Amino acid sequence: MRLVLLGPPGAGKGTQAVRIAAEYGIPHIATGDIFRSNVREETELGVAAQGYMDAGDLVPDHVVNQMVADRLEQRDCGDGFVLDGYPRTVPQAEELEAVLARRQSPLDVVLSFEVPEEELVSRLLGRAATEGRTDDTEAVIGNRLEVYRTQTAPLEKFYAERGLLTPVDAMGPVEDVTRRALKALRSSG
Ligand code: AP5
Ligand code: MG
Repeated sequence: MRLVLLGPPGAGKGTQAVRIAAEYGIPHIATGDIFRSNVREETELGVAAQGYMDAGDLVPDHVVNQMVADRLEQRDCGDGFVLDGYPRTVPQAEELEAVLARRQSPLDVVLSFEVPEEELVSRLLGRAATEGRTDDTEAVIGNRLEVYRTQTAPLEKFYAERGLLTPVDAMGPVEDVTRRALKALRSSG
């Protein structure tokens, strides 16, 4: 199962990716998590990414593309993967498509998590209180949503044109969303 989770900040990509990855026994690759651990460890990659992340802007495509291509080379991705937070721009989606085409292992499906904007903001402000992510402030959340609308939402059309886009209603209890996501995956395969 080679899968992309698409959806705005707070849609539940990370929450559901963990569950889907466990169900299929495949790795969960979250670009935001990889960047955050690099920021914590003060690596070169972390230093390069931090300013963009704090502002809620996207890290430049070439940086992210290289990082993901390297990760997909690792042996544990042989049976598939759940990509969470990547791709996020049309050039990233084109690059992923090219990388996977070279390996003759195209994507199977793109689940698109749908949640109204008021709910996104309330989930992220809730997380700010528990996890203290530095980009979960009202101003930065606003920019992340705007970046999603302008730079990432065009991927819905990109993947719909390829017959890969599968919408999932991502409102309601976490378990219910998981059930809907797994059902969508079963009927896509
Ligand atoms: P990233 O870490 O990917 O952040 P994001 O897209 O803003 O998404 P979130 O992690 O905030 O939301 P999520 O959909 O994963 O929801 P979650 O499950 O956590 O990216 C961070 C930054 O890194 C970017 O801004 C950018 O700078 C950089 N970056 C990353 N990837 C990049 C790329 N490809 N290109 C360029 N730059 C990149 O849930 C959110 C909250 O809601 C949690 O508290 C959760 O418990 C709660 N929740 C989840 N499900 C439910 C539910 N059903 N009901 C109620 N609450 C729920
Ligand atoms: Mg996340």
